Amino acid sequence: MNICVIGAGYVGLTTATILASRGHTVHAVDINETKINLLNQGTVPIYEPGLEPLINENLQEKTLVFSTKINKAIQHNEIIIIAVGTPALPDGSTDLSFIHNVVETIAKNLNTYKIIVTKSTVPPGTNESIYQTLLDKGIDKDLFDVVSNPEFLKEGSAIQDLLHPDKTVIGTKHSRPVSVMKQMYGGILGEVILTSLTGAELIKYASNAFLATKISFINEMARICDVYNVNIEDVSKGIGTDPRIGPLFLKSGLGYGGSCFPKDVSALHHSAKSKKVNVPLLEATMEVNHSQIDVYLNKLISHVPLEGKKITVWGLTFKPNTDDTRLSPALRLIEKLKAFHCHIHCYDPQVNSLNIKDVNYHTDMYDSLKDSDILIVATEWDMFKFPNWDKVKKWMKNNIILDGRNIYDPKRLEANGFHYIAVGNS
Ligand code: UDX
Repeated sequence: MNICVIGAGYVGLTTATILASRGHTVHAVDINETKINLLNQGTVPIYEPGLEPLINENLQEKTLVFSTKINKAIQHNEIIIIAVGTPALPDGSTDLSFIHNVVETIAKNLNTYKIIVTKSTVPPGTNESIYQTLLDKGIDKDLFDVVSNPEFLKEGSAIQDLLHPDKTVIGTKHSRPVSVMKQMYGGILGEVILTSLTGAELIKYASNAFLATKISFINEMARICDVYNVNIEDVSKGIGTDPRIGPLFLKSGLGYGGSCFPKDVSALHHSAKSKKVNVPLLEATMEVNHSQIDVYLNKLISHVPLEGKKITVWGLTFKPNTDDTRLSPALRLIEKLKAFHCHIHCYDPQVNSLNIKDVNYHTDMYDSLKDSDILIVATEWDMFKFPNWDKVKKWMKNNIILDGRNIYDPKRLEANGFHYIAVGNS
């Protein structure tokens, strides 16, 4: 099949690559010329395990083509996948300007029948309005179909998630494009969920809102565990064995971040409110996540005054195995530490610099500890789980460790002479 993917970000790039490696010819287009030039040389501007070699394989076989020529790409392909960004606006609603621009461009280039597939996460009603916009522009309804086909891939395991999906959600107005969609994903479909355009949009939001709620729930439980000296890991394990609850997304810590959960929960909240629906559960999910960093900081302050301390933060990305720092709890934590005039030193295996003033970045995790009073682990990269504790002790001036992701065994650390602090991990 001939497929055009518009937007070469995390979602577009991985989707285009996997479809190309499944035997389709994929044109991935983006307005960012620098990015396209890099991709054509086989250099991937993001860190996603396994992506770069796969892109290079497809480039060599000419099944994957990168270009900025969006008009041509739309005209020459039958399936047009929209994977542009849908960032949050300050009021929590969604900025759909990239989507609107793309729809305008598609409208101008609809020379033959095309299936327009929206993969970007968009608020309920957006795909209906894309359909209506095209009709309003005088385009014949037989010249196109709109499909709402949300993605469920996680950064860091995007390739595996695409190759082994638990489901493929296909939201349509008519059944006409369904068989082509199934053919496109042939062999990598999982369970097929057929629904309406808006149904598919809400499946995506409900999925992320539920997972975010699971995290906020376990973080709230960790607060309770903390005052009763109970280990939250035991509680997660205990409830996770119940198949109705399940073991995943029950890891307590500094809270969720990234480009999806914070944005999607507030977008769903905004959509509900715009229709006068009260959503106290979503509000609580956001509130718990928002206050989680203060819970950790207050615990730390109850052990040691922070004013003027030298603090090392390990981990800057919003989770391990990515280079993405968007809405990372680590960054919010650093901003809060700065209010205490702390001297902040950081290490992250994928991040060497950031636009934060007065923060020192290191390229070696042990170097970052030199003369530190406090080590805070903000992201659970594997390399932080089993450090050389003798080296840590030797480099640090003081012995305080705030475990923001509950990755350490408190008893072991205390036996090693550290002052261990966490929330719900005693
Ligand atoms: C998420 C969804 O999982 C994915 O299906 C959707 O398509 C995009 O959004 P992603 O943002 O890549 O994926 O990351 P995810 O692994 O879901 O983690 C999100 C955040 O939750 C991270 O900050 C992570 O640290 C945090 N988290 C996750 C927890 O705090 N505890 C957990 O148990 C799991």
